[in-house]
Amino acid sequence: MNVSFLLNGTSVTLTEPAPTTTLLDWLREERHLTGTKEGCNEGDCGACTVMVTDANGHHPLNACILLLPQLDGKHVTTVEGLSTAQGTLHPVQSEMVTHHGSQCGFCTPGFVMSMATAHLNGDTDHNTTLAGNLCRCTGYAPIIRAARAAEEQPVPDHLLLLGENIPGNPSADGRLDGAAPQTTDALAKLYAENPDATLIAGATDVGLWITKQLRDIPTPIFLNQCADLHGITKTDTHWRIGAMTSIAELERTLSPHFPDLGKMLRRYGSTQVRAAATLGGNIANGSPIGDGSPAMIALGATLHLRMEDTRRDIPLEDFFIAYGKQDRQRGEFVEAISFPVQPDTLHCTKISKRFDQDISAVCACLNLPVEDGHFTTTRLAFGGMAGTPARARQAEAALNGQPVTLASIHAAMAVLRHDFTPLSDMRASADYRMEVAQNALLRAFHRSNGTATDLHEVTS
Ligand SMILES: Cc1cc2nc3c(=O)[nH]c(=O)nc-3n(C[C@H](O)[C@H](O)[C@H](O)COP(=O)(O)OP(=O)(O)OC[C@H]3O[C@@H](n4cnc5c(N)ncnc54)[C@H](O)[C@@H]3O)c2cc1C
Ligand code: FES
Ligand code: FES
Repeated sequence: MNVSFLLNGTSVTLTEPAPTTTLLDWLREERHLTGTKEGCNEGDCGACTVMVTDANGHHPLNACILLLPQLDGKHVTTVEGLSTAQGTLHPVQSEMVTHHGSQCGFCTPGFVMSMATAHLNGDTDHNTTLAGNLCRCTGYAPIIRAARAAEEQPVPDHLLLLGENIPGNPSADGRLDGAAPQTTDALAKLYAENPDATLIAGATDVGLWITKQLRDIPTPIFLNQCADLHGITKTDTHWRIGAMTSIAELERTLSPHFPDLGKMLRRYGSTQVRAAATLGGNIANGSPIGDGSPAMIALGATLHLRMEDTRRDIPLEDFFIAYGKQDRQRGEFVEAISFPVQPDTLHCTKISKRFDQDISAVCACLNLPVEDGHFTTTRLAFGGMAGTPARARQAEAALNGQPVTLASIHAAMAVLRHDFTPLSDMRASADYRMEVAQNALLRAFHRSNGTATDLHEVTS
């Protein structure tokens, strides 16, 4: 497998690189570009942030869990490529100097890359942009002041040209072998022939198997070149989300239609994680504490699975059989997720120890349609309450047909105790999980009556 991309404007072609080499290791060890730092090596701290440009725009990504084949056909900008050839600092760099945004400096290149990507994208929501960058000594106020001061300053010319200069998807000229199929048909054939291969989507899980568990991935198949696995379409009746759709794109597209879902997705990992992680990977990994599955189950999603030329569709909740066990055959993969077009009656609550960049202790996605003042076909989906994402069927039955009153909600809250026996672990105790799951129903009720229910947030 050969991999070609642009690095700070210079063309790079790697012949047969080890496919599980991370961009971070390659930059530092092979290119001696040591501005990109290694902090946690697991996607949590943002010290390794780089900017990757492709046909869909400019994305801040964590280089520590980004594998070289994921870069094929793209443009990578590191902190060394931010200033002009004459050495003029990027506006966010000079404002970091002016506003004393750096002390020990270890986190600074990562911050600067996140800020420069947001600056290029015209994104001024700095709290969100920087939620995935950890600084232990400066404090965030001077950094955010620097980001604000740079807002109106022009993007340097060499960065403006990035979008016009993307190598693009490689032509099917054999430059990549079968480990990076370019269509879903090719993927289906290859995976059926190699059912023990490891599919790699955004690598926000698989990357950690490599960097933290030091696992070998003998036969990786990269999905990023399958253009027809990407993207969201809407017909009169259904939304359809390709398995390779990133959480960032999901958030952008669905937020206007389901604002509470948008708010929850804004707290899924960080800007860098959402730019890489895919909905297909989030579902396929079967995690009981993932945020994507409860949301999709509450919306009534169907999972579209494919093995070679055979396709089957199942209700998403049926995919999760038990902890670590999903209804997926060898050689079968997630092609898409779809759900009916519907009015927005979705309420999402993510409970985690930290507001930003934290895995949920409980994720509650509650769809509460109402007809003639009565709850109708409610769907109450939870993460963190069982060994799989799951519906609270008994609480649903208790709500359906009941008048929309606080008494109905209280009755359903009591019944919820029969649906789940949650575990105690480092994230939360069983009692806490049950209490916040019940209270999510209360929150949804008050929210739908227009009462403010937002968590108190610390902002700059
Ligand atoms: C710092 C950090 C923060 C995180 N925060 C959150 C969070 O807040 N909420 C949350 O839910 N998750 C979170 N995660 C977990 C992670 O982002 C998700 O599970 C992610 O969506 C996985 O998608 P991916 O594309 O990166 O999958 P990958 O890592 O590429 O793959 C994950 C698994 O799915 C398989 N797979 C991928 N695509 C397919 C497919 N199409 N068909 C079949 N199998 C497939 C892979 O073989 C692998 O087993 C976080 C991760 C990190 C590193
Ligand atoms: S080194 Fe911490 S996110 Fe990459
Ligand atoms: S300046 Fe030291 S960690 Fe941020």
